[in-house]
Amino acid sequence: MLEDRLKSVIRDIPDFPQPGIVFKDITPVLKDQELSSAIVDELAKRLEGMEIDAIAGVESRGFLFGMMLANKLGIPFIPIRKQGKLPAKTIAESYKLEYGQATIEIHEDAFVPGSRILIHDDLLATGGTVVAASKLVEKLEGVVVGYAFIISLDFLHSLGRLTRFSDNIIALAR
Ligand code: PRP
Ligand code: ADE
Repeated sequence: MLEDRLKSVIRDIPDFPQPGIVFKDITPVLKDQELSSAIVDELAKRLEGMEIDAIAGVESRGFLFGMMLANKLGIPFIPIRKQGKLPAKTIAESYKLEYGQATIEIHEDAFVPGSRILIHDDLLATGGTVVAASKLVEKLEGVVVGYAFIISLDFLHSLGRLTRFSDNIIALAR
């Protein structure tokens, strides 16, 4: 089963990047081509029938599978980047995450108003990152149609923070 494979391959690194955090390291997944393909195929399958205009992925780990998924679905990929990285006109949102705080940005012309946007990230922890990403999408008059994660750290009880945008939340492992 894909979930079992993911759980056995994703590494726990204690006390990274700071004491008390158990960091989920997905780099072993990236080394496994078959597993990486299976992730993209499964996400695409679970998204079947949904009307999605584009996938928005959050820097940096959200880029890895976000672009592959968009490509598989034949739709555009929109990068949401950390502050100061996107070159054209942007809007920004600040947020807290499990081990710090950050600001993310999106290009003002990333999509046309009314677009149906699926937000992808590798991992859901507190939800701070994807809540900020959702606010960016809504500020540009996009519709958040759902979320797709590889892994969700359910012990942080973040799902409730997302349902005000969409209750269509996919996680391949918990
Ligand atoms: C990680 C991860 C998610 C976010 C999840 O990114 O890739 O984007 O944290 O945490 P949250 O649900 O508490 O917001 P990070 O900011 O560490 O950046 P990276 O992808 O560049 O490693
Ligand atoms: N992002 C936020 N919390 C994380 C964790 N525990 N492992 C990997 N990425 C994270």
